[in-house]
Amino acid sequence: MVAAHPQQSLDRGNLLRDRIVLITGASRGIGAETAKLMAQHGAAVGVNYYGSEAAAHDVVDSITSEGGRAVAVRADVRDSEQVKAMVQQVAETLGAIDTLVINANANFPMASFVDYRWEDFESKLLGELKGAFFPCQAVVPSMIERGRGCIIAVSSGLSRHPGQGFVAHSTAKSGLDAFIKSLALELGPHGIRANVVSPGLTLTDATARLPQDYKDAAAQTVPLKRNGLPDDVAGAILLLASDEAKFITGAYLPVSGGVQMI
Ligand SMILES: NC(=O)c1ccc[n+]([C@@H]2O[C@H](COP(=O)([O-])OP(=O)(O)OC[C@H]3O[C@@H](n4cnc5c(N)ncnc54)[C@H](OP(=O)(O)O)[C@@H]3O)[C@@H](O)[C@H]2O)c1
Repeated sequence: MVAAHPQQSLDRGNLLRDRIVLITGASRGIGAETAKLMAQHGAAVGVNYYGSEAAAHDVVDSITSEGGRAVAVRADVRDSEQVKAMVQQVAETLGAIDTLVINANANFPMASFVDYRWEDFESKLLGELKGAFFPCQAVVPSMIERGRGCIIAVSSGLSRHPGQGFVAHSTAKSGLDAFIKSLALELGPHGIRANVVSPGLTLTDATARLPQDYKDAAAQTVPLKRNGLPDDVAGAILLLASDEAKFITGAYLPVSGGVQMI
């Protein structure tokens, strides 16, 4: 019997061989699943976290235990100096970043518009857009120098279709969509692609407080008849990051089991 090669379990398909990826908010949820999947396809991964240090190290351990390369890096994505330091740390440890996934969740209270406090609205908008602007500005110059790069932002179906109580989230995510389209236009001539994935309701910590009957009812509205899972979104990010998507930029890809059709 031939002994299994230690890297065999990691080597799923090599769609991202030799890529250096930074994923914001990769300690939990969609980001953590994306980090593991991208590593299984050959990428070295910077696993950004903010408060969940142990969880981020678990993600890194899971990758390295399968023979992959990863590093956990703490930064608040809303702070430009912390983001610059994070990008430098990843570049020094793994290599220059060629793929950036903007994923960190900017928290927000759910409330109707008439009850919404400007402070909460502003905090969501700024958090979402700083969390995109600062990481992009920190990695794009080196992507331009090398004439290639890939940026993927995790938006939401609510960026195009409003939901009760989601006025801040919808507005922030539609701003994120416009930001990414602008980058796709400006950076395309430098060989840099920029795309959006748009999840529907996905089972993570962010949705854990929703009542089960709400989630069950939501699943019934999904043509594929279930709630989304983090690895559903990770798969879409992987596809857009891979060279199989080399002529796709400025796109908006719903990952909602068919709830959102565009
Ligand atoms: N779940 C859904 O139903 C759904 C639907 C549509 C879109 N999305 C989008 O998908 C993305 C991921 O959401 P999720 O559901 O996976 O969230 P989650 O499970 O709550 O995880 C959030 C992640 O974001 C990180 N984070 C939060 N604030 C941060 C900051 N200031 N700086 C750096 N990292 C920060 C957290 O890190 P720490 O724990 O280390 O602080 C954590 O890793 C978000 O952009 C969200 O809007 C989610």
